[in-house]
Amino acid sequence: MAKYEIAWLPGDGIGKDVMEAARIVLDSLKVDADYMYGDVGWEFWKREGNALPDRTIKILKETNCCLFGAITSKLKEEAEKELNPGLKGKGYVYFSPIVRIRQEFNLHTNLRPCKAYKGNPLNYRDDVDLVVFRENTEGLYSGVEFHPLPKDVMGTLLKNHSKMERFKDTLLEDIALSCRIFTRKACQSIVRQAFEYARKFNRDSVTLIEKPNVIRETSGLMVREARKVAREYPGIELWETNVDAMCMWLIKNPQKYGVLVSSNMFGDIISDLCAQLVGGLGFASSANIGDDYALFEPTHGSAPKYAGQYQVNPTAMLLAVKLMLDYLEENELAVGLENSIAKVIEEGRVRTYDLGGTASTLDVAKEVARSLS
Ligand code: NAI
Ligand code: MG
Repeated sequence: MAKYEIAWLPGDGIGKDVMEAARIVLDSLKVDADYMYGDVGWEFWKREGNALPDRTIKILKETNCCLFGAITSKLKEEAEKELNPGLKGKGYVYFSPIVRIRQEFNLHTNLRPCKAYKGNPLNYRDDVDLVVFRENTEGLYSGVEFHPLPKDVMGTLLKNHSKMERFKDTLLEDIALSCRIFTRKACQSIVRQAFEYARKFNRDSVTLIEKPNVIRETSGLMVREARKVAREYPGIELWETNVDAMCMWLIKNPQKYGVLVSSNMFGDIISDLCAQLVGGLGFASSANIGDDYALFEPTHGSAPKYAGQYQVNPTAMLLAVKLMLDYLEENELAVGLENSIAKVIEEGRVRTYDLGGTASTLDVAKEVARSLS
Protein backbone atom coordinates (compact mmCIF):
# COMPACT_ATOMS: atom_id res chain seq x y z
CA MET A 1 0.00 0.00 0.00
CA ALA A 2 1.16 3.52 -0.75
CA LYS A 3 2.06 5.88 2.09
CA TYR A 4 -0.81 8.25 1.27
CA GLU A 5 -4.31 7.88 -0.08
CA ILE A 6 -5.33 11.08 -1.78
CA ALA A 7 -8.87 11.86 -2.92
CA TRP A 8 -8.80 13.11 -6.51
CA LEU A 9 -11.71 15.41 -7.39
CA PRO A 10 -11.23 17.26 -10.71
CA GLY A 11 -14.84 18.55 -10.83
CA ASP A 12 -15.91 20.75 -13.75
CA GLY A 13 -14.41 22.77 -16.60
CA ILE A 14 -10.75 23.74 -16.26
CA GLY A 15 -10.68 21.83 -12.94
CA LYS A 16 -10.12 18.76 -15.12
CA ASP A 17 -7.37 20.44 -17.18
CA VAL A 18 -5.36 21.65 -14.21
CA MET A 19 -5.71 18.37 -12.32
CA GLU A 20 -4.18 16.56 -15.28
CA ALA A 21 -1.28 19.00 -15.02
CA ALA A 22 -1.00 18.28 -11.28
CA ARG A 23 -0.73 14.57 -11.98
CA ILE A 24 2.22 15.07 -14.34
CA VAL A 25 4.11 16.86 -11.58
CA LEU A 26 3.09 14.45 -8.79
CA ASP A 27 4.26 11.50 -10.87
CA SER A 28 7.61 13.19 -11.51
CA LEU A 29 8.00 13.92 -7.82
CA LYS A 30 7.34 10.20 -7.21
CA VAL A 31 5.01 10.97 -4.32
CA ASP A 32 4.21 7.64 -2.64
CA ALA A 33 0.46 7.96 -3.04
CA ASP A 34 -2.64 6.30 -4.44
CA TYR A 35 -5.15 8.67 -5.98
CA MET A 36 -8.82 7.85 -5.48
CA TYR A 37 -11.00 9.50 -8.12
CA GLY A 38 -14.31 10.97 -6.91
CA ASP A 39 -17.36 12.31 -8.77
CA VAL A 40 -18.20 15.92 -7.98
CA GLY A 41 -19.78 18.88 -9.76
CA TRP A 42 -22.46 20.09 -12.09
CA GLU A 43 -22.73 16.88 -14.15
CA PHE A 44 -23.77 14.99 -11.02
CA TRP A 45 -26.21 17.67 -9.95
CA LYS A 46 -27.93 17.44 -13.34
CA ARG A 47 -27.92 13.65 -13.45
CA GLU A 48 -28.47 12.71 -9.79
CA GLY A 49 -29.66 15.88 -8.06
CA ASN A 50 -26.51 15.80 -5.93
CA ALA A 51 -23.29 17.58 -6.85
CA LEU A 52 -21.46 15.72 -4.09
CA PRO A 53 -22.69 12.11 -4.11
CA ASP A 54 -22.41 9.97 -0.95
CA ARG A 55 -19.87 7.71 -2.69
CA THR A 56 -17.55 10.73 -2.94
CA ILE A 57 -18.02 11.63 0.73
CA LYS A 58 -17.02 8.03 1.47
CA ILE A 59 -13.78 8.46 -0.53
CA LEU A 60 -13.00 11.65 1.39
CA LYS A 61 -13.51 9.81 4.68
CA GLU A 62 -11.12 7.06 3.62
CA THR A 63 -8.25 9.27 2.45
CA ASN A 64 -5.53 11.43 4.07
CA CYS A 65 -6.45 14.56 2.16
CA CYS A 66 -7.99 15.75 -1.09
CA LEU A 67 -6.90 17.53 -4.24
CA PHE A 68 -9.77 19.46 -5.80
CA GLY A 69 -9.99 21.12 -9.23
CA ALA A 70 -12.99 23.45 -9.50
CA ILE A 71 -16.74 23.25 -9.73
CA THR A 72 -19.45 25.16 -11.54
CA SER A 73 -22.20 26.71 -9.43
CA LYS A 74 -25.27 28.45 -10.83
CA LEU A 75 -28.21 30.43 -9.45
CA LYS A 76 -31.13 28.60 -7.87
CA GLU A 77 -33.46 28.96 -10.89
CA GLU A 78 -30.84 27.80 -13.41
CA ALA A 79 -29.91 24.84 -11.22
CA GLU A 80 -33.54 23.75 -11.08
CA LYS A 81 -33.92 24.21 -14.86
CA GLU A 82 -30.92 22.03 -15.72
CA LEU A 83 -31.92 19.18 -13.40
CA ASN A 84 -32.80 15.85 -15.03
CA PRO A 85 -36.56 16.05 -15.87
CA GLY A 86 -37.25 12.92 -13.80
CA LEU A 87 -35.92 14.68 -10.67
CA LYS A 88 -37.62 18.06 -11.11
CA GLY A 89 -40.09 19.18 -8.45
CA LYS A 90 -38.93 16.46 -6.04
CA GLY A 91 -37.32 18.80 -3.54
CA TYR A 92 -33.72 18.58 -4.77
CA VAL A 93 -31.82 21.70 -3.73
CA TYR A 94 -28.40 22.64 -5.09
CA PHE A 95 -25.60 23.23 -2.58
CA SER A 96 -22.04 24.13 -3.53
CA PRO A 97 -20.04 20.93 -2.96
CA ILE A 98 -16.91 22.80 -1.92
CA VAL A 99 -18.78 24.77 0.74
CA ARG A 100 -20.41 21.51 1.92
CA ILE A 101 -17.05 19.71 2.18
CA ARG A 102 -15.56 22.61 4.16
CA GLN A 103 -18.46 22.50 6.60
CA GLU A 104 -18.96 18.72 6.91
CA PHE A 105 -15.26 18.04 7.41
CA ASN A 106 -14.85 21.17 9.54
CA LEU A 107 -12.02 22.52 7.38
CA HIS A 108 -12.02 25.68 9.46
CA THR A 109 -8.89 27.35 8.11
CA ASN A 110 -8.51 28.56 4.55
CA LEU A 111 -4.93 29.54 3.81
CA ARG A 112 -4.29 31.52 0.62
CA PRO A 113 -0.70 32.54 -0.11
CA CYS A 114 -0.13 35.28 -2.70
CA LYS A 115 3.53 35.67 -3.52
CA ALA A 116 5.10 37.66 -6.35
CA TYR A 117 7.48 35.21 -8.02
CA LYS A 118 10.53 36.79 -9.58
CA GLY A 119 10.18 37.49 -13.28
CA ASN A 120 6.39 37.21 -13.40
CA PRO A 121 5.45 39.98 -15.84
CA LEU A 122 2.00 40.20 -14.23
CA ASN A 123 3.30 41.15 -10.77
CA TYR A 124 1.77 44.40 -9.56
CA ARG A 125 4.95 44.87 -7.56
CA ASP A 126 7.81 42.41 -7.14
CA ASP A 127 7.88 42.60 -3.34
CA VAL A 128 4.39 41.33 -2.53
CA ASP A 129 4.30 38.32 -0.20
CA LEU A 130 0.91 37.97 1.46
CA VAL A 131 -0.94 35.13 3.14
CA VAL A 132 -4.68 35.37 3.70
CA PHE A 133 -6.28 33.37 6.51
CA ARG A 134 -9.98 33.10 5.77
CA GLU A 135 -12.46 31.60 8.23
CA ASN A 136 -13.92 28.77 6.22
CA THR A 137 -17.11 27.37 7.73
CA GLU A 138 -19.29 30.20 9.03
CA GLY A 139 -20.18 33.84 8.43
CA LEU A 140 -22.27 34.61 5.36
CA TYR A 141 -21.52 31.11 4.03
CA SER A 142 -23.35 29.44 6.93
CA GLY A 143 -26.21 28.72 4.56
CA VAL A 144 -28.92 29.90 6.96
CA GLU A 145 -30.97 31.91 4.50
CA PHE A 146 -34.63 32.69 3.91
CA HIS A 147 -36.73 33.89 1.03
CA PRO A 148 -39.57 34.51 1.60
CA LEU A 149 -39.02 35.33 5.25
CA PRO A 150 -41.01 32.88 7.41
CA LYS A 151 -43.68 34.63 9.48
CA ASP A 152 -42.39 33.40 12.82
CA VAL A 153 -38.83 34.53 11.98
CA MET A 154 -40.25 38.00 11.23
CA GLY A 155 -42.16 37.89 14.52
CA THR A 156 -39.09 36.89 16.51
CA LEU A 157 -36.95 39.58 14.90
CA LEU A 158 -39.59 42.26 15.58
CA LYS A 159 -39.82 41.15 19.19
CA ASN A 160 -36.04 41.14 19.72
CA HIS A 161 -34.69 44.07 17.74
CA SER A 162 -35.98 47.61 17.41
CA LYS A 163 -34.13 48.11 14.09
CA MET A 164 -36.49 45.54 12.55
CA GLU A 165 -39.40 47.92 13.03
CA ARG A 166 -38.91 49.69 9.70
CA PHE A 167 -39.34 46.40 7.80
CA LYS A 168 -42.56 45.42 9.59
CA ASP A 169 -44.91 46.39 6.77
CA THR A 170 -42.83 44.80 3.98
CA LEU A 171 -44.43 41.67 2.53
CA LEU A 172 -42.67 38.48 3.67
CA GLU A 173 -42.12 37.48 0.04
CA ASP A 174 -40.34 40.79 -0.53
CA ILE A 175 -37.68 40.13 2.12
CA ALA A 176 -34.63 37.88 1.81
CA LEU A 177 -32.44 37.21 4.83
CA SER A 178 -28.94 35.69 4.96
CA CYS A 179 -27.54 35.13 8.44
CA ARG A 180 -23.94 36.12 9.15
CA ILE A 181 -23.17 33.67 11.94
CA PHE A 182 -19.89 33.97 13.88
CA THR A 183 -18.94 31.76 16.81
CA ARG A 184 -16.35 32.72 19.38
CA LYS A 185 -14.55 29.43 18.78
CA ALA A 186 -14.15 29.96 15.02
CA CYS A 187 -13.06 33.59 15.49
CA GLN A 188 -10.42 32.55 18.00
CA SER A 189 -9.27 29.66 15.85
CA ILE A 190 -8.74 31.61 12.62
CA VAL A 191 -6.91 34.44 14.39
CA ARG A 192 -4.76 31.95 16.29
CA GLN A 193 -3.80 30.17 13.05
CA ALA A 194 -2.75 33.52 11.59
CA PHE A 195 -0.60 34.35 14.64
CA GLU A 196 0.94 30.87 14.70
CA TYR A 197 1.87 31.28 11.05
CA ALA A 198 3.33 34.74 11.71
CA ARG A 199 5.43 33.31 14.53
CA LYS A 200 6.63 30.36 12.46
CA PHE A 201 7.63 32.48 9.49
CA ASN A 202 8.94 35.50 11.41
CA ARG A 203 6.31 37.98 10.30
CA ASP A 204 5.97 40.92 12.68
CA SER A 205 2.29 41.75 12.21
CA VAL A 206 -1.12 40.21 11.63
CA THR A 207 -3.75 42.39 9.95
CA LEU A 208 -7.36 41.75 10.89
CA ILE A 209 -9.80 42.82 8.16
CA GLU A 210 -13.40 43.36 9.29
CA LYS A 211 -15.95 46.18 9.60
CA PRO A 212 -16.71 46.42 13.33
CA ASN A 213 -17.71 50.09 13.22
CA VAL A 214 -20.87 49.06 11.30
CA ILE A 215 -21.29 45.30 11.69
CA ARG A 216 -20.95 45.64 15.41
CA GLU A 217 -21.81 42.19 16.68
CA THR A 218 -20.19 39.76 14.23
CA SER A 219 -17.15 41.78 13.15
CA GLY A 220 -17.09 43.09 16.73
CA LEU A 221 -16.80 39.58 18.16
CA MET A 222 -13.93 38.84 15.77
CA VAL A 223 -12.06 41.98 16.84
CA ARG A 224 -12.60 41.36 20.56
CA GLU A 225 -11.34 37.77 20.26
CA ALA A 226 -8.40 38.84 18.08
CA ARG A 227 -7.25 41.29 20.75
CA LYS A 228 -7.28 38.50 23.35
CA VAL A 229 -5.35 36.10 21.10
CA ALA A 230 -2.82 38.83 20.19
CA ARG A 231 -1.83 39.21 23.84
CA GLU A 232 -0.37 35.70 23.72
CA TYR A 233 2.02 36.70 20.93
CA PRO A 234 4.26 39.49 22.17
CA GLY A 235 6.39 40.86 19.35
CA ILE A 236 3.69 40.33 16.71
CA GLU A 237 1.50 43.38 16.29
CA LEU A 238 -2.23 43.16 15.59
CA TRP A 239 -3.27 45.74 12.99
CA GLU A 240 -7.03 46.29 12.81
CA THR A 241 -8.44 47.52 9.51
CA ASN A 242 -11.84 47.98 7.87
CA VAL A 243 -12.39 45.87 4.78
CA ASP A 244 -13.20 48.82 2.48
CA ALA A 245 -10.11 50.80 3.50
CA MET A 246 -8.02 47.65 3.26
CA CYS A 247 -8.88 47.26 -0.44
CA MET A 248 -7.39 50.71 -0.93
CA TRP A 249 -4.31 50.02 1.23
CA LEU A 250 -3.61 46.76 -0.54
CA ILE A 251 -3.42 48.59 -3.85
CA LYS A 252 -1.43 51.49 -2.37
CA ASN A 253 1.11 49.63 -0.21
CA PRO A 254 0.78 45.85 -0.56
CA GLN A 255 4.43 45.36 0.42
CA LYS A 256 3.69 46.61 3.93
CA TYR A 257 1.47 43.67 4.79
CA GLY A 258 2.24 40.03 5.50
CA VAL A 259 -0.36 37.92 7.27
CA LEU A 260 -4.00 38.90 6.74
CA VAL A 261 -6.97 37.37 8.56
CA SER A 262 -10.68 37.71 7.98
CA SER A 263 -14.07 36.06 8.03
CA ASN A 264 -15.47 33.88 5.26
CA MET A 265 -16.94 36.47 2.86
CA PHE A 266 -14.42 39.30 3.33
CA GLY A 267 -11.59 36.76 3.22
CA ASP A 268 -12.84 35.46 -0.12
CA ILE A 269 -13.04 38.95 -1.60
CA ILE A 270 -9.70 40.13 -0.23
CA SER A 271 -7.93 36.99 -1.45
CA ASP A 272 -8.99 37.59 -5.07
CA LEU A 273 -7.64 41.13 -4.77
CA CYS A 274 -4.37 39.74 -3.39
CA ALA A 275 -4.28 37.14 -6.20
CA GLN A 276 -4.40 39.89 -8.80
CA LEU A 277 -1.41 41.62 -7.16
CA VAL A 278 0.70 38.57 -8.03
CA GLY A 279 -0.58 37.73 -11.50
CA GLY A 280 -4.23 36.78 -11.13
CA LEU A 281 -6.22 33.63 -10.47
CA GLY A 282 -3.72 31.51 -12.39
CA PHE A 283 -1.32 31.98 -9.46
CA ALA A 284 -3.59 31.69 -6.42
CA SER A 285 -3.69 28.47 -4.43
CA SER A 286 -5.69 27.56 -1.38
CA ALA A 287 -5.46 25.09 1.50
CA ASN A 288 -8.61 24.17 3.44
CA ILE A 289 -7.38 22.73 6.70
CA GLY A 290 -9.23 21.08 9.60
CA ASP A 291 -8.14 19.08 12.62
CA ASP A 292 -8.40 15.71 10.83
CA TYR A 293 -8.59 16.40 7.12
CA ALA A 294 -7.52 18.92 4.49
CA LEU A 295 -8.36 19.82 0.91
CA PHE A 296 -6.15 21.70 -1.55
CA GLU A 297 -7.40 23.62 -4.59
CA PRO A 298 -6.66 26.56 -6.84
CA THR A 299 -8.85 29.53 -5.83
CA HIS A 300 -10.15 29.97 -9.36
CA GLY A 301 -13.37 28.42 -10.58
CA SER A 302 -14.23 26.23 -13.57
CA ALA A 303 -13.81 29.05 -16.17
CA PRO A 304 -16.31 27.43 -18.61
CA LYS A 305 -15.00 29.54 -21.49
CA TYR A 306 -11.67 27.67 -21.35
CA ALA A 307 -12.96 24.21 -20.35
CA GLY A 308 -11.15 21.29 -21.96
CA GLN A 309 -8.92 23.56 -24.04
CA TYR A 310 -5.76 23.14 -21.95
CA GLN A 311 -5.08 26.86 -22.23
CA VAL A 312 -5.23 28.03 -18.62
CA ASN A 313 -2.31 28.47 -16.28
CA PRO A 314 -1.79 25.43 -14.02
CA THR A 315 0.46 27.33 -11.59
CA ALA A 316 -2.35 27.88 -9.04
CA MET A 317 -3.06 24.14 -9.05
CA LEU A 318 0.64 23.25 -8.81
CA LEU A 319 1.03 25.62 -5.87
CA ALA A 320 -1.95 23.83 -4.27
CA VAL A 321 0.01 20.59 -4.66
CA LYS A 322 2.89 22.33 -2.89
CA LEU A 323 0.54 23.25 -0.02
CA MET A 324 -0.55 19.61 0.15
CA LEU A 325 3.08 18.46 0.40
CA ASP A 326 3.58 20.99 3.24
CA TYR A 327 0.57 19.49 5.02
CA LEU A 328 1.91 15.95 4.56
CA GLU A 329 5.26 17.19 5.91
CA GLU A 330 7.00 16.15 2.71
CA ASN A 331 9.14 19.25 3.14
CA GLU A 332 11.86 18.40 0.67
CA LEU A 333 9.35 17.66 -2.08
CA ALA A 334 7.42 20.85 -1.27
CA VAL A 335 10.53 23.04 -1.47
CA GLY A 336 11.69 21.30 -4.65
CA LEU A 337 8.31 21.85 -6.30
CA GLU A 338 8.10 25.53 -5.35
CA ASN A 339 11.65 26.13 -6.60
CA SER A 340 10.79 24.51 -9.91
CA ILE A 341 7.62 26.55 -10.31
CA ALA A 342 9.60 29.71 -9.51
CA LYS A 343 12.30 28.74 -12.01
CA VAL A 344 9.82 28.17 -14.83
CA ILE A 345 8.17 31.54 -14.11
CA GLU A 346 11.51 33.34 -14.03
CA GLU A 347 12.91 31.70 -17.18
CA GLY A 348 9.68 32.62 -18.96
CA ARG A 349 10.19 30.22 -21.88
CA VAL A 350 7.00 28.24 -21.30
CA ARG A 351 4.05 30.51 -20.64
CA THR A 352 0.28 30.23 -20.92
CA TYR A 353 -1.93 32.88 -22.52
CA ASP A 354 -2.39 34.95 -19.35
CA LEU A 355 1.37 35.61 -19.39
CA GLY A 356 1.33 36.41 -23.08
CA GLY A 357 2.54 32.95 -24.12
CA THR A 358 1.16 30.16 -26.27
CA ALA A 359 2.12 27.12 -24.20
CA SER A 360 -0.60 24.75 -23.05
CA THR A 361 -1.57 23.87 -19.49
CA LEU A 362 0.23 20.54 -19.83
CA ASP A 363 3.35 22.11 -21.42
CA VAL A 364 3.82 24.21 -18.29
CA ALA A 365 3.37 21.15 -16.05
CA LYS A 366 5.92 19.20 -18.10
CA GLU A 367 8.39 22.08 -17.86
CA VAL A 368 7.94 22.23 -14.08
CA ALA A 369 8.42 18.45 -13.93
CA ARG A 370 11.58 18.70 -16.08
CA SER A 371 13.00 21.43 -13.82
CA LEU A 372 12.58 19.27 -10.72
CA SER A 373 15.76 17.35 -11.26
P1 NAI B 1 -13.28 31.64 -12.70
O1 NAI B 1 -12.24 31.64 -11.66
O2 NAI B 1 -13.75 30.31 -13.17
O3 NAI B 1 -12.73 32.42 -13.98
C1 NAI B 1 -12.72 33.82 -14.14
C2 NAI B 1 -11.68 34.19 -15.19
O4 NAI B 1 -10.38 34.16 -14.58
C3 NAI B 1 -11.57 33.23 -16.36
O5 NAI B 1 -12.50 33.51 -17.35
C4 NAI B 1 -10.15 33.46 -16.80
O6 NAI B 1 -10.10 34.64 -17.57
C5 NAI B 1 -9.43 33.69 -15.49
N1 NAI B 1 -8.83 32.47 -14.97
C6 NAI B 1 -9.33 31.63 -14.03
N2 NAI B 1 -8.48 30.63 -13.80
C7 NAI B 1 -7.42 30.83 -14.60
C8 NAI B 1 -6.20 30.13 -14.81
N3 NAI B 1 -5.90 28.99 -14.14
N4 NAI B 1 -5.34 30.61 -15.74
C9 NAI B 1 -5.61 31.73 -16.41
N5 NAI B 1 -6.73 32.44 -16.24
C10 NAI B 1 -7.63 32.00 -15.35
O7 NAI B 1 -14.51 32.50 -12.14
P2 NAI B 1 -15.99 32.74 -12.70
O8 NAI B 1 -15.94 32.92 -14.18
O9 NAI B 1 -16.54 33.80 -11.85
O10 NAI B 1 -16.80 31.43 -12.37
C11 NAI B 1 -16.94 30.31 -13.25
C12 NAI B 1 -17.58 29.17 -12.49
O11 NAI B 1 -16.70 28.71 -11.46
C13 NAI B 1 -18.88 29.57 -11.78
O12 NAI B 1 -19.81 28.53 -11.95
C14 NAI B 1 -18.48 29.72 -10.33
O13 NAI B 1 -19.54 29.45 -9.46
C15 NAI B 1 -17.39 28.68 -10.21
N6 NAI B 1 -16.41 28.91 -9.13
C16 NAI B 1 -15.95 27.81 -8.47
C17 NAI B 1 -14.98 27.91 -7.52
C18 NAI B 1 -14.46 26.66 -6.91
O14 NAI B 1 -14.59 25.61 -7.48
N7 NAI B 1 -13.85 26.70 -5.74
C19 NAI B 1 -14.42 29.21 -7.14
C20 NAI B 1 -14.90 30.32 -7.95
C21 NAI B 1 -15.88 30.16 -8.90
MG1 MG C 1 -13.43 33.16 -4.46
